[in-house]
Amino acid sequence: MTIIDTLKNLVHSSPKLELDDIQATILFKRPDPYYGTHVLLKIIDAAGGRALLSRLAPHVRSAADARINTTAWIAVALSHAGLVALDIPEDSLASFPAAFRAGMAARADRLQDFGASAPANWEAPYGSGDVHVTISIFAPDEASWKHALATAQNEFKDIDGVTLLGMHDFGAQPDSLNPFGYRDNISNPAIDGGIEDLLPGQGDAIKAGELILGYPGESGVPMAMPQPEALGRNGTFVVIRKYQADAAAFNRFLRDNADDEAGQELLAAKLVGRWRSGAPLTLAPEKDDPALGADPKRNNDFTYKDDQAGLQAPHGCHMRRMNPRDSKLAVLTDVNIHRIIRRSTTFGAPWRADLLEDDGQERGLFFIGISAKAPETVEFMQAEWVDHGNFMDLGKERDPILGQQDEDSTFTIQKRPVRQRIHGIQTFCTVRGGEYLFMPSLTALRWLAGEGRETA
Ligand code: HEM
Repeated sequence: MTIIDTLKNLVHSSPKLELDDIQATILFKRPDPYYGTHVLLKIIDAAGGRALLSRLAPHVRSAADARINTTAWIAVALSHAGLVALDIPEDSLASFPAAFRAGMAARADRLQDFGASAPANWEAPYGSGDVHVTISIFAPDEASWKHALATAQNEFKDIDGVTLLGMHDFGAQPDSLNPFGYRDNISNPAIDGGIEDLLPGQGDAIKAGELILGYPGESGVPMAMPQPEALGRNGTFVVIRKYQADAAAFNRFLRDNADDEAGQELLAAKLVGRWRSGAPLTLAPEKDDPALGADPKRNNDFTYKDDQAGLQAPHGCHMRRMNPRDSKLAVLTDVNIHRIIRRSTTFGAPWRADLLEDDGQERGLFFIGISAKAPETVEFMQAEWVDHGNFMDLGKERDPILGQQDEDSTFTIQKRPVRQRIHGIQTFCTVRGGEYLFMPSLTALRWLAGEGRETA
């Protein structure tokens, strides 16, 4: 074998992922239906922070464990301010990417977080620099959720150098509907060398290095990794954004722009690209097919090859913007380098089809995006795909679900002989806070806890 062949093999063969070191959340979908809690903590002194991580580390589920244990699991991540509070060496801090070091609030202009979504209007403690550690519990049932939460609480409640800032429960049962009534948690990238069964329609597996640090990415080489290797390898980045969903305004928009209930459901499908049941418009263009929507072997098995005109899934619908697949784009883009793993969680009162006025109940979604460059990826998606229509020849139109709309904003549905342009689309989602986080490997958790490094 020539050196060239060896190099080619290195580039093309699937890497063996170190599953016992990678946190489960990266490689496993959240359950459906699901229960859980996000816990936000501040490190008051480095010794307390190290004690916290040392006590949590044995409970954090690895991907290897998740293959045999499917009950509730615990995931841990840290902000840049958290790494600073842990007193890790300056050169390690400097080895993290600029966006992560700056933090989400400081990147508001790149994320298009303005107006009601601007950091000045966020809920405490987001964006204050106080969120240092997050613990997330994901559970398939109430009993194992409560047990895992109690386990985590037991480990942090009596540590002097750590303060609890807040806890936010989430979950959706029984049908896992998100705050606008859609089935979600459907489409995620397949990871080269990953462990979940490949589902029809997932397309070519994305090189592991796009999603986990320490492995070759789409370019054939690993991305720059936080140093030392014990800290960076098998870790990744997480973007968490808390969205308040105006479900009443969404329902009113559907009512005001359709003749009857069937028309409203079709419009809801056109806004996302899927019927609320999860059935994609490209496979069920005329009417909903709930059995298709519920079938993971069929509900993502499509491309836009035969719908380049957008007659089925409109060019500007949410999921076509967020993953254009093989759509012909007006701005040349390699879609594979902008993929992100989603582990988003719905919170608050369940969705109601008849909700037309604000009932004073909280409803929303924690968007959770994971990749080896998640902050940069989400900044790209927000700036290029959510808040601009140019890449799809849609001018100033924004994403109908996520866009911060103006008074005269529109949503276009491609049709023959003439397209339909709906005026008066409103802002349905407002950002209430968020953080850029680093999700360390299990080795890195112990390194951060002080094992194998000098601490003051
Ligand atoms: C309240 C906020 C949001 C709502 C209600 C929402 C809703 C949905 C729904 C219903 C789907 C289709 C079902 C699925 O594939 O799981 C979807 C897909 C998707 N969303 Fe969102 N989403 C939200 C925020 C975001 C954000 C902030 C991003 C990224 C910046 C994002 C990226 C995606 C992606 C990548 C897909 C999959 C597209 C595909 O592969 O076909 N979403 N979303």
